[in-house]
Amino acid sequence: MAKGLIVFVTRSGNCRHLAAMAAQETGFQVHEIEDLVNRKGIFGWLYAGFQATTGAASPIREPEIDLRDVDSIILIYPVWASSVCPPIRTWLKRHHNELINKQFGLIASNLGSPGERVQAAFEREFFPLKAFTVISEKEAEQNKQDLIRTFVSQMA
Ligand SMILES: Cc1cc2nc3c(=O)[nH]c(=O)nc-3n(C[C@H](O)[C@H](O)[C@H](O)COP(=O)(O)O)c2cc1C
Repeated sequence: MAKGLIVFVTRSGNCRHLAAMAAQETGFQVHEIEDLVNRKGIFGWLYAGFQATTGAASPIREPEIDLRDVDSIILIYPVWASSVCPPIRTWLKRHHNELINKQFGLIASNLGSPGERVQAAFEREFFPLKAFTVISEKEAEQNKQDLIRTFVSQMA
């Protein structure tokens, strides 16, 4: 596979776990984008949904990533109201010019709602996806691994 990296956001840890699994399959380095908004409690949850559906780009802390020689980027983020997760939106907007001409794959973690709107929302706002999968956090570990393997083979 081309030179690549994994960029993820998480609120409650599922996407960190998926990122580690994807790293094991690809050997790509993993980078976490930290969400700086307090998402705790019911108000945090409601505000997350509000920001996701209104296209907000929320404040983040990001690691330094050299994108120059990277061909493929695997994004991993939680589904919030079937939309692009606001912290990843911030990162994608901030680096838009450096990201043109890269290949993108998206792994979305959720609670089981269908993935079509998640994929469409991303592609409408950002880039076409070479590979996409949505993985319910309730899925058995073996199924998660199988879904990630299939995803990685589509990225190759
Ligand atoms: C504001 C908000 C909206 C959500 N919307 C959806 C949704 O539309 N469909 C779904 O299946 N899960 C939805 N979820 C559940 C998360 O996508 C799911 O818990 C995910 O696995 C969390 O990943 P994380 O632990 O990496 O943050 C939502 C969660 C939050 C906080």
